[in-house]
Amino acid sequence: MKHFISPKDVHSVPEMVKEGLAQKAHPYANQALGRNKTLCLLFFNSSLRTRLSTQKAGMNLGMNVIVMNVGADSWQLEFEDGVVMSGSKAEHIREAAAVIGQYADIVGVRAFAGLSDRNEDYKELVMQSFRDLAGVPIVNLESATRHPCQSLADLITIEEYKKKEKPKVVLTWAPHIKPLPQAVGNSFAEWLNLTDYEFVITNPEAYDLAPEFVGSATVTRDQEEAFEGADFIYAKNWSSYERYGQVIRGHENWIIDEKKMALTNAAKFMHCLPVRRGLIVEDAVIDSPSSIVIPQAGNRVWSVQAALKKILEAL
Ligand code: CP
Repeated sequence: MKHFISPKDVHSVPEMVKEGLAQKAHPYANQALGRNKTLCLLFFNSSLRTRLSTQKAGMNLGMNVIVMNVGADSWQLEFEDGVVMSGSKAEHIREAAAVIGQYADIVGVRAFAGLSDRNEDYKELVMQSFRDLAGVPIVNLESATRHPCQSLADLITIEEYKKKEKPKVVLTWAPHIKPLPQAVGNSFAEWLNLTDYEFVITNPEAYDLAPEFVGSATVTRDQEEAFEGADFIYAKNWSSYERYGQVIRGHENWIIDEKKMALTNAAKFMHCLPVRRGLIVEDAVIDSPSSIVIPQAGNRVWSVQAALKKILEAL
């Protein structure tokens, strides 16, 4: 595998899930693969899980890992070509990415959507720039439109907890006070569409995801109908795609509560975290035995370790 930016980089999704479970079973079995190799992680945005799980995965594979908060620890980067750099951005991505590629064998990048210009965000300028200019493989640690490390961890978790071959998996929009990117919802939908699970997305009218990510999923505005018979409830907020980046008020009743969970087939509750209790989900649900958010976050190590292993094998 050359890069891990989207599922298009992956030969087979079921094979990646199997690889994640194999890494979990034998975390240190491939230490020779990463010996004397350097993983450089670049964060344009905050992180708890992605930063720590990717560092741990790299170390499990025997790699040296270096981490930088871009902008805070480094120069501010300019991504536009042909500009006169007379503002606050002191270094162009053309030099920065190429230089980072001199120090690293694999580069991980986190760069969220700006949420002001949909066309710009969906062009994925930051991720594409590193892909084009660094000269080494790139791992997407959450970009403007995708979060593949999260989605693969989600599939690994569903594989571990499913009680039937083809579970009903529901991605439900949930309320939030701030505008959040669509990346987690997009990516979850994109990866779920590559399984043979029954997949339903439920969201208020103003919150449809981009059609390219919704794919063949069933979409319903009726959250309670979606929950009926569900085996997994995956809650996530995202800001509007149509009215780009906006929070449209009046959907506070989309919170995940015990009454809605009672409609399901004893569904497991999932969320990528961080989660705002009392807004997205009631304490009684996230603190219940049906909640698998902690093992789900634990699986972040094995998803990115599987991706790094595949890339190391192809170096
Ligand atoms: N789920 C997730 O990506 O968490 P962090 O933002 O803390 O990395």
